[in-house]
Amino acid sequence: MRSLAAALWLLLLLPAPSVVAVKEQDFKKCHESSFCRRGRALADRATEHVKSGEKWKSPYSLDASTIVLEDGGSRFTGRVRSSLYPEIKFELDVRVHEDGVVRVRMDEKEGLRKRYDEAASWALLKEPVLSPSSKWSVGKKEVKVVYGAKKDQVEVTVEFEPLVVRMKRNGKDQVVLNGQGLLHMEHFKKKVEKVEAEVPVVEGEETQKVVQLPPNSWFEGVTEDGWWEETWKTWTDTKPKGPESLSLDINFPNHGHVYGIPQHATHLDLPTTKGEGASFNDPYRLYNGDIFEYPASSSSLSLYGSIPIIHAHSADSTVAVFVAVASETWVDVAHPTQKSTETHWISESGILDIFLLPGPTPDQVFGQYARLTGAVQLPPHWSLAYHQCRWNYVSSDDIRGVQKRFDEEDIPVDVFWLDIEYSEEHKYMIWEKKYFPDPIDMLNDVAALARKMVIIVDPHIKRTVDYPVYKEGQELDLFVKNKQGNEFEGWCWSGSSAWIDFFNPNSWEWYKQLYKFNGREDGKWSWTESTSTVHIWNDMNEPAIFNGPEITMEKDSIHYGGWEHRDVHNINGMLFANTTSQAVKERTTPYNRPFVLTRSYYAGAQRFAAMWTGDNMGTWEHMAVGIPMVLSNSISGMSFTGADVGGFFGNPEPEMLTRWYFVGAFSPFFRAHAHIDTKRREPYLLAEPYKSIVREIIRLRYSLLPVWYTAFRESSVTGLPVTRPQYVVLPKNEAGFSIDDQYYVGASGLLVKPITEAGITETTVHIGEDQVYYDFYTGHAYRGSVKGKSVTVPAPLERGPLLIRGGSILPSRDRPRRSSALMKRDPFTLKVALSQSGNASGELYLDDGESYDHREGNFIWREFVAESTKKTVTISSKDLASRNPDSAVDGVELAIYNGGNAFANALDGVRVERIVVLGLKNKPTKVTLGKAHLEFTFKDGMAAAGNKEGVASKLTVKNPGAFITSDWSIVLEL
Ligand code: GLC
Repeated sequence: MRSLAAALWLLLLLPAPSVVAVKEQDFKKCHESSFCRRGRALADRATEHVKSGEKWKSPYSLDASTIVLEDGGSRFTGRVRSSLYPEIKFELDVRVHEDGVVRVRMDEKEGLRKRYDEAASWALLKEPVLSPSSKWSVGKKEVKVVYGAKKDQVEVTVEFEPLVVRMKRNGKDQVVLNGQGLLHMEHFKKKVEKVEAEVPVVEGEETQKVVQLPPNSWFEGVTEDGWWEETWKTWTDTKPKGPESLSLDINFPNHGHVYGIPQHATHLDLPTTKGEGASFNDPYRLYNGDIFEYPASSSSLSLYGSIPIIHAHSADSTVAVFVAVASETWVDVAHPTQKSTETHWISESGILDIFLLPGPTPDQVFGQYARLTGAVQLPPHWSLAYHQCRWNYVSSDDIRGVQKRFDEEDIPVDVFWLDIEYSEEHKYMIWEKKYFPDPIDMLNDVAALARKMVIIVDPHIKRTVDYPVYKEGQELDLFVKNKQGNEFEGWCWSGSSAWIDFFNPNSWEWYKQLYKFNGREDGKWSWTESTSTVHIWNDMNEPAIFNGPEITMEKDSIHYGGWEHRDVHNINGMLFANTTSQAVKERTTPYNRPFVLTRSYYAGAQRFAAMWTGDNMGTWEHMAVGIPMVLSNSISGMSFTGADVGGFFGNPEPEMLTRWYFVGAFSPFFRAHAHIDTKRREPYLLAEPYKSIVREIIRLRYSLLPVWYTAFRESSVTGLPVTRPQYVVLPKNEAGFSIDDQYYVGASGLLVKPITEAGITETTVHIGEDQVYYDFYTGHAYRGSVKGKSVTVPAPLERGPLLIRGGSILPSRDRPRRSSALMKRDPFTLKVALSQSGNASGELYLDDGESYDHREGNFIWREFVAESTKKTVTISSKDLASRNPDSAVDGVELAIYNGGNAFANALDGVRVERIVVLGLKNKPTKVTLGKAHLEFTFKDGMAAAGNKEGVASKLTVKNPGAFITSDWSIVLEL
């Protein structure tokens, strides 16, 4: 077995550049993958043609005579022909969805074989509803549809010859497919031996053997490059289906910034891979992989998960393209001009299935994508609190000891994690009784303090008949097969292992049964040594296979339905997490919200799981790149994400660890984790002043849990990311489009810029609007400008730069507790940060945090508003749900909402214990709530309006007599 621990030691001894070099060799570059090579060569031929003044014309055209309008005209189908292979039939199917998204599908029909066409069905929430009103019309040169408001019209054309799909808004190109003529769907062929022809090279002279150039060589090149077999290192991919790759250019002629296609360690605004001065030599690769010790910057190293969505942004509009493909895919990115983008997508197999999301704002794009693939599930409340993990807590007493130390040091924590060593010989769900003799007692000891445990269950199943999961899986014939049709065998933590084929529907119910801690109805084995407070961590699900090519499964392995692993690789890991999440949810009656952390994911995984960025290193570079990685995942649907705090590998020095806690406290998923060979680094082990600083950072996370939970509610409904980069919040502020080291938390108005370098005492923050922003800690007022302005803010170790956008009201709970469950009836503080015009608003969403009762209307959802007149400022609390009867929570529409619901009743009497108002222009003469005069203190300072910087004025009203579940108004008379 490849021992990762041993390999790690070796690598740690090497200087950094060698480590990187090792990595690069272990994974393919584009030129080592024949279909990528062919795709890029096609693009190069096109470029050469154009350079030499020749025309490059796509051989693909739509046969107008075959067009059929369907579904009332919102959809059409038609035959596509390639002039290179006139006998091959391709079918095009183009639809307009009710929200204006356009889906373009193309497949080979009546071919020798069938292409994999199910990627979308795994990603999509449901079959999209087609537009009742948008109708295609067939013209002489194109099929066209026009929709949307008159002033803001979308026009989509499908041009016949060559085949080009173009989405325009107000006459301006938004997305163009095949504009450069790089579309190529390699059709299925029979393997024929090549004939070398004898031709006279010069007339009259002796003949010579030369290979005749096929007529299609201008387009396809002259060689059969890796069509039928491909060897890389010691592995040979047999490719029984032959070549079937797909190439397509997707261009954004009026958008200069593109984001998305996670996961790569790089910037949010994707650096170029082609063209002059390209940042990377290789395209971005989407091929879920376990990249051991990944470098902090790479395009070709494709990490753990893949979401083939790309967002294109300009100050005028935002659009996105979702490419529903599950096979290995490479994406080149170039900016021919500063304001335009070309991308070239090369996939190994599958049909062409593309969704054009018309935007035109970032928020609308998120909504369109969420309607397709679903929004993030509303997580259990505790899962937004702090998680303590390491590989490994070695015994049940170790867990008890760690819990005790947290409590002694008054450091809040909600979740303790167990990594693989809890299990006997890595047979997951089977306790290693030597070290965990009393698992239920341990779980209950943790639960006694209202805490949870998350335990790892990996997908590799140890091949030993004394492991009930293996035995039953084998009996039921549920494992992935190798190319010979036998059980696939590979090596992972558990040694020789098999993998459940989650593409096989028979695996789902069976697998879910394994989590029934009260036993299975059929009396067979299930994990009875577990409780309802256990949640699950799915790792290594790319799948990671130590002795496989690129540490994963051979592409010619076979899944249910006869599909090759190559066809489904990027979806594979998501199905494991999906089934696990259903298992955890359904093990109790009534159901409780599950928490599953997955390493591998695909579009749609946000509906089931949180994810983390895998095995990062304990370096400043990795801490820094974790931020754009989180943002990139977030805008691609995976909002519940974070990086290992402290870095997985290495022993971060205290300053680095402290800064990393701040990064974690402002990530949606906040977990410290460390490799088995690292020194223990639980926060209570830190020396002073670090320990106290980290305690305060974790407490800050707890006090802001209302903000995070409210942000997740919004995300679960609208699809808007929980952490929002600059371009999302201020889509017209060009100076912010490439900024990815600062971001906002939901719609709360919190703007954070974590420090990711040593020795920093101050930093600059970009304020991308003409607005006042307040330092969260000191109340110092900073001013932005329409074009954006950099302001210098202090950044001492104990106060990571954190600003509140003028116009926001932040709800927080400021009493330190040991775990979040103990805060349920804690009072609230409202921080009102007045905007330059003297107004502000904010939201608060709360429910029981664990059950699905919120779907029956059991929650509170309130809006706080501050409105100014010349002489007064009125701060009020209003019910939001009853004012938005069409609103939804967690994707479920609220048919009936009753303000006096059971959850709201349970919070009866929970107070607002403090209201703080920043930026009043002067001291109020009185503050009243109804007839009651309230006491207050006032510190003079800067007003919200104006252009001077300095500490803002601060009004504090203690115990105003306002309650969190009821409507009230407080009037400040100025
Ligand atoms: C992988 C995971 C890591 C985990 C380790 C042992 O490397 O990414 O988080 O600790 O496996 O399970």
